[in-house]
Amino acid sequence: MTQEDARFPKDFVFGAATAAYQCEGETRTHGKGKVAWDDYLDEKGLFSADPASDFYHRYPEDLRLCQEYGINGIRVSIAWSRIFPNGDDPVPNSEGVAFYHRLFAECRSRGVEPYVTLHHFDSPDALYREGDFLNQHAIDAFERYARFCFAEYPEVTHWFTFNEIWAVVSNMYIEGTWPRGQRYRLDLAFQAMHNMMVAHARAVLAFEELGHPGSIGVVHALSTKYPDDPAAAGDVEAARIDDVLNNQFLLEATFDGRYSEETLDCANRLAALAGGRLEFLPEDLEQLAAAAPHNDCLGINYYQSNFLKAYDGPNDCHHNSTGEKGTERHALQGIGEYVARPEIPRTDWDWMIYPQGLYDLVMRICRQWPHYKELYVTENGMASKDRLEEGAVHDEERIHYIREHLRWALKAIAEGAHLRGYFVWSLMDVFSWNNGYNKRYGLFYVDFDTQERIPKDSARWYAKVAQERFLDT
Ligand code: BG6
Repeated sequence: MTQEDARFPKDFVFGAATAAYQCEGETRTHGKGKVAWDDYLDEKGLFSADPASDFYHRYPEDLRLCQEYGINGIRVSIAWSRIFPNGDDPVPNSEGVAFYHRLFAECRSRGVEPYVTLHHFDSPDALYREGDFLNQHAIDAFERYARFCFAEYPEVTHWFTFNEIWAVVSNMYIEGTWPRGQRYRLDLAFQAMHNMMVAHARAVLAFEELGHPGSIGVVHALSTKYPDDPAAAGDVEAARIDDVLNNQFLLEATFDGRYSEETLDCANRLAALAGGRLEFLPEDLEQLAAAAPHNDCLGINYYQSNFLKAYDGPNDCHHNSTGEKGTERHALQGIGEYVARPEIPRTDWDWMIYPQGLYDLVMRICRQWPHYKELYVTENGMASKDRLEEGAVHDEERIHYIREHLRWALKAIAEGAHLRGYFVWSLMDVFSWNNGYNKRYGLFYVDFDTQERIPKDSARWYAKVAQERFLDT
């Protein structure tokens, strides 16, 4: 890489990401309604999302740290049930509404641009109990909530509708690792992905119709899929099908506003294998098509890639939620199985560390949808069991992880990709959905007893990159 190629564009956003439920705390107070996670975590009794990183009270300190460390963009999400406690109440909760005004004002005063997501895994419990996005009511309620937020917060100019529709459906309907999770229901997974994309489309159309300034898009969790053996037809097919499920289905709905024949064939076949069928209403498809050209930006959350082998056995998934390496298993009937590669390192949670996958992904999007001009890496980061030693956290591995992903991002930019920014997951240590607090991603270490923030070595390194707009090698 030449000196010039190691330089970031002058308006590149050096961001960091958070999500309401994972950092705010005050999950059932100040008028906030319940989300499905509340009862689920209570029942499990393993960990609580209260007070998590206490962002509800400590956001001024976190934003001060952003400013101090050159982080000029922050991803935050609005907790839907802080605004509408039951998802669709006649009157919003004024305390919740006021909280986000204060938060956005603080962002402005610190020169940190807020990138705001409307739904980050936290559907209000009342809607969840009715079937979440498998029920039309959630779609209607989401559009109403989105309209309310667009009108209420003109100070926000970067909006994302959903965070990781794929993660929602895979955890709820395939792996069964989230509240009231079902397993191996690919029919429900595809149906919910479609319905959430319709809700997204309706929010995009509302944004357009109301003439709000700024940009709107969606954040997708994307992973590049590779055949374990590129010469084996079965492995190639496994990678293709898994790509449709994880990437192609959602990307087509976003960019094309329709599904290709190949995608529909695959979705219908997998739904039938799971014993169900998909229902796409004509008006849904009209809304997808109408909204597609009004997507201004796309957020890419990239953590890992997958190598697949052909697989004939029964469904067999096991999620590593302990950090005990080698315990993850993902094999789906009709698709394939994920395999480890000895030459590719993995985190303690078995997430494959493959920075080139980010480049391959971005370039694939640029090739398939060349008109798309505003891409962000909205999440990327590495979990580890960080230890505070004599007031410091030496997280060399995280620095290496971020550096290598930025290097591949720069290569994509040099080759014409319109990547406008990068957000480290996460700004500070936060609550992790299946893992609680032993899986840390933050640039800032949080002592969960005292809520003290301590900059890790990665925070100092990232600050230098942001300040110099240059990637050291
Ligand atoms: C992304 C989510 O999928 O990955 C975050 O947007 C999440 O909310 C992050 O925390 C890491 O996942 P986990 O399970 O390791 O916390």
